[in-house]
Amino acid sequence: MYCNIFVLLIIISLSSGEDYYELLGIKRDANDKEIRKAFKKLAVTLHPDKNTNDPEAHNKFVKLTTAYEILKDSETRKKYDIYGEEGLSNGYKAKQYQSWSYYQNQFGIYDDDPQVETLNRHDYNEKVLKSESIWFINFYSPMCSHCHHLAPVWRQVAKELEGVVRIGAVNCEDDWHLCRQINIRSYPTLLYYSRHSTHGVLYTAENTRENIISYVLSRLDVRALPISTSLGKRIIQGLEATEGASLLFICGINRDCFTTEDHLKIAAILNNMVTVRVLRCSDDECDDTIPHDIGVAFQHNNKNMPSDPIFFEDIDDVQILARKVLEQLPEPQDLSEEDFLGIRTRLRSDLNAGWLICFYIGHATQLDVQLKKLPGIIQSINLGKVNCGKYSNLCKGLNVNHYPVWGVLKPGGAFELHHGKDSVHDIASFATESIRATNVHMLSVDEILSIMNNKKDSEAWLVDWFAPWCPPCIRFLPELRKASLHFEPSVVHFGTVDCTVHSTICRQFNIRSYPTAMLVNNSNTNLFSGDKIAASLVEFITEMQNPTVIKLTTDDFHLKLGKKTVDEIWLVDYFAPWCGPCQQLAPQWTLVAKTLQVLPLVHVASVNCELEPSLCSSQGVRSYPTIRLYPTGSKGLNRVALYNGARDSLSILSWVTEFLPVNVKNLNLDNFDDMILQRKEAWLVDFFAPWCHHCIELQPHYNIAAQILEGKVRFAKVNCENYRLLCRKASVRAYPTVMLYFPGQKYSNEYDGSQINTASASKIVRDVETLLSTASRSKRDEL
Ligand SMILES: *[C@@H]1O[C@H](CO)[C@@H](O)[C@H](O)[C@H]1NC(C)=O
Repeated sequence: MYCNIFVLLIIISLSSGEDYYELLGIKRDANDKEIRKAFKKLAVTLHPDKNTNDPEAHNKFVKLTTAYEILKDSETRKKYDIYGEEGLSNGYKAKQYQSWSYYQNQFGIYDDDPQVETLNRHDYNEKVLKSESIWFINFYSPMCSHCHHLAPVWRQVAKELEGVVRIGAVNCEDDWHLCRQINIRSYPTLLYYSRHSTHGVLYTAENTRENIISYVLSRLDVRALPISTSLGKRIIQGLEATEGASLLFICGINRDCFTTEDHLKIAAILNNMVTVRVLRCSDDECDDTIPHDIGVAFQHNNKNMPSDPIFFEDIDDVQILARKVLEQLPEPQDLSEEDFLGIRTRLRSDLNAGWLICFYIGHATQLDVQLKKLPGIIQSINLGKVNCGKYSNLCKGLNVNHYPVWGVLKPGGAFELHHGKDSVHDIASFATESIRATNVHMLSVDEILSIMNNKKDSEAWLVDWFAPWCPPCIRFLPELRKASLHFEPSVVHFGTVDCTVHSTICRQFNIRSYPTAMLVNNSNTNLFSGDKIAASLVEFITEMQNPTVIKLTTDDFHLKLGKKTVDEIWLVDYFAPWCGPCQQLAPQWTLVAKTLQVLPLVHVASVNCELEPSLCSSQGVRSYPTIRLYPTGSKGLNRVALYNGARDSLSILSWVTEFLPVNVKNLNLDNFDDMILQRKEAWLVDFFAPWCHHCIELQPHYNIAAQILEGKVRFAKVNCENYRLLCRKASVRAYPTVMLYFPGQKYSNEYDGSQINTASASKIVRDVETLLSTASRSKRDEL
């Protein structure tokens, strides 16, 4: 299947460095396999080992490796596509690379095998886990010789099992995150995933073709049914009413009826569409109905019209036979314009099963025969097709501009077109997800205009502007659908705009990069600038509904911040909506506000300097974003602290929480005994190491908890790098460890404390309060 590639000019902001796609000589919509192939090809010619005379060879190669490392990971690629090199956090640099022979011989073993799907961690979560398909996956390392020995066998298995199960490969050198996450301990590791499973089962038998194939076949959930010769003959003659079509293997003298393993394979390939039956004819028992040398027959069992059986001759390959059978299966039903509109009207009023519809021109029979498997994969979805040659107005109204293309009509009446790959599995998962996401609409011109011009009274819309050729756009669509499931249509609707179709409108609303998502709510439009994943989008919309960040206008600014009391802290982000770093800060800022919400004395706010230019200039704001803190101990705007650190929530929180009024005491060997063990008050002690990341993450939460528990518990910390003995005495085994020491209690070991759960500030508070109340109760009981 082909789709036209639209050549469009698009402004993509790139910093001065060379374009990574150009470096690798690939198109912007190249898939992972194409990226790897292009890199490998360049790597073996440009490697410094092969260019010893070129003093620049090393630098050139590092650039190439960097481009590859960025583009091969869909997360970093997404960032790169949107923000360019600048968007990659902390100036991503690849300094190391492999030897020449690595790229020559060991780089991605299965890139040239069409039947083996090379998976990365995103594919793994989306395609493998809980999927409709059965997977058998080879986790390997190109550095391991056993993996290379297995390769020819694995390729053979993939060919033989094509369509039976899906065969995958994960290069653990490339995707060590994934391999570590699922605990791969040796190479190669083969894991089998049955349908809908959440984890793989380890294959432990010998790695031979025979063993692997029989292992897979023994685990399939399909059968080839043995039947009596009389029943078989009746089915072939169309005299027996069976459920659906039948494929019969007829075994007997002079008949080649394939092997038992083949029967299972084909039953799996044709699962849910064709029943596979096996009859065994002795002597010439079957010859009266079935020609004496025929081993395979097919019966449509079309109930309205008795049909003649089809006999397959001279086929000895399962894959060819499967293809021939698929060719016999019916096309999706033809829908006229009237049918289509009728279905849509019915779907608007009652929640029937949705429809997956193919829009085509020319002969529908030219569609890829693999697509005939769709009814077997998505059984609860209706299938239809529309001839756009005949109903061109309908197709045009639905934004269909290349053929064939698939779309869904959802319960409720929404319509959406499929973008991305046209493989049977991709279309099937599109259909399933899209039909579930009944609140995602492909918008028409009229709808776009009325949403953007706020004519849809009091309806909030999340609008996603995209181009089908942009890979981050295609990856964002399923995330949008996932996010939509979290909201009722009465709260927010979701709409998509294909800017290759609506280029004028996209220009009119100044859409400069794809995808651009915005929440349009009455007269307010807010750009979504977080990571393009469902969770961030849900958070963004939730924040818009119930803002934790106070939006300051000029009036508010003087009324609220200008009248700040000595007990308050105000934290303000001065930003401009068009500035890239401001957009990246926004979701982090929300997180900061959310975390600090538990402290009434802290107010987190933002000022949009585009809307309030005089306010920002009166405050001397010269660059965006500017982060300022107005501390306790002074009124109004008298004192201000400036923030210059990294703009992630953790760094900001660590800075802010240092300004909180209740201090966390630093303890050492000398004062520990005095402070803690005299125990006039309850003490909480954080035993940490400066290099431990979890300790750094805990620090702001710990400081926040200290404010909340003021007057009940004193807070302290011990740097275990400096006071090892102290930490050992206190039985600290991991960092961070937070211990509560009660006042006036006797322990066998003086350093016995109760360990506290440190998941968040509120968790610390809850845990401490529970322990304190239990302790005071038991003390009362003693008296
Ligand atoms: C839309 O705005 C209204 C008030 O104007 C607000 O109550 C509602 O929560 C907003 N909806 C979203 C999804 O932001």
